[in-house]
Amino acid sequence: MKKLLIKGKKELIGAISISGSKNATLPILAASLLSNKVSLSNVPLVKDIYTMLELLKFIGLKIKIKNSKRIIEIVNNKEKINTLAPYRLVKTMRAGVLVLGPLVTKYKKAKISLPGGCAIGTRPVDLHLFALKKLGAKIKIKDGYILAEAKKGLRGTKIKFPSISVGATENALLAACGAKGKTVLSNCAIEPEILDLISFLKKLGSSINVFGRKIEIVGKNLTKKKINHNIIFDRIEAGTYLIAGALIGKKITIKKIETKILNTEIKILKKMGINIRASKNSISISSATSFKKSNIITKPYPGFPTDLQAQLMVLMTQAKGVSIIKEDIFENRFMHVPELRRMGAKIEIKNKTAYIFGPRKLNGAEVMATDLRASVSLVLAGLIADKRTVINRIYHLDRGYEYLEKKLKNCKAKIKRI
Ligand code: UD1
Repeated sequence: MKKLLIKGKKELIGAISISGSKNATLPILAASLLSNKVSLSNVPLVKDIYTMLELLKFIGLKIKIKNSKRIIEIVNNKEKINTLAPYRLVKTMRAGVLVLGPLVTKYKKAKISLPGGCAIGTRPVDLHLFALKKLGAKIKIKDGYILAEAKKGLRGTKIKFPSISVGATENALLAACGAKGKTVLSNCAIEPEILDLISFLKKLGSSINVFGRKIEIVGKNLTKKKINHNIIFDRIEAGTYLIAGALIGKKITIKKIETKILNTEIKILKKMGINIRASKNSISISSATSFKKSNIITKPYPGFPTDLQAQLMVLMTQAKGVSIIKEDIFENRFMHVPELRRMGAKIEIKNKTAYIFGPRKLNGAEVMATDLRASVSLVLAGLIADKRTVINRIYHLDRGYEYLEKKLKNCKAKIKRI
């Protein structure tokens, strides 16, 4: 099995171009089921995207990938498609469940494997089903599958989500685009990736308006013309490299971003005493001699993202005093903590809150992680640790970070895959 080897304490210097967002591409790929012909550019060619493409192919779409240009072309012109998302394709990537909304609204039925639990928590799909039912779908659960049907099509309605969910908002939006009449969704997630999905759906001909956490959709006949869409940058990848720069950057410049989307992250890093210079589409960052402690709570956008919690925790191990992180989105997202402790960090966990005591010197060790963001936090820890860090199970990293080693190597990091 492949591993990453990192020799720590090498100062980073250089520029990193941020890839397109995985979490925007996944729902937009699901949305391509509503279209005839789509060309997507700035697609991050990471494992989760290939899994979603495999699912779309299984359903019956034609896919062409132009690797060098990161363009994906999709044609959906078959009379009959397979309205099934099998277990083998949904179990490794929960976003597979996003084909539920488009399939039911356009093809009137779907059979989607329940994704099951995952390392960071139980992650149910009850909110996705709640929205689909409100729109008129009949739903049954049988043998681990969601069986959904809407013989006469879906009908627009008012839906208030009891709690905020990115995936459920996306599934509801996708379903509402093919429903008759007007749908009003409230208490929605409004992540930049959702706004990117909305901009794609508008190109398809949907009428969608966003008012705070309320989204109004009027079902329309969608265009059969070809849609071109350039995927938004990956704010989590950008945040990860910003933290790398804060930890050990002589000067790192991250490029191909929209800085205003990263306001929350920039504010926190500045408060911790990191040197940041931001312009509209790039940010330069360098480390400081000492960092101030900080307290954060993970929240839906525009709050601090749970997907950057593990990475920020590594920075907090270097801050003076006790920093506090409350994980408010997922119930089991501190699995990087035992591994960081093995590298010398002092972290205590009480319920959903981690107390990080710093500054602590980190030492290289052989470590392994159980999810995407936890793995990358160990890479960050390896960059500042004494001696050598070996990271196992790096397939987690490959699910979401495009050219991770290459990007870090370009900034003089000593990192290699063995
Ligand atoms: C998406 C992101 C993921 C990120 C998460 C939160 C993608 C592909 N993934 O995941 O990287 O960490 O948002 O920002 O975009 N919940 C329910 N019932 C449901 C759905 C969710 O109880 O039907 C709960 C979840 O268990 C979790 C919380 O709601 O505690 C938020 O989850 P959600 O926003 O749905 O996350 P995902 O869409 O799965």
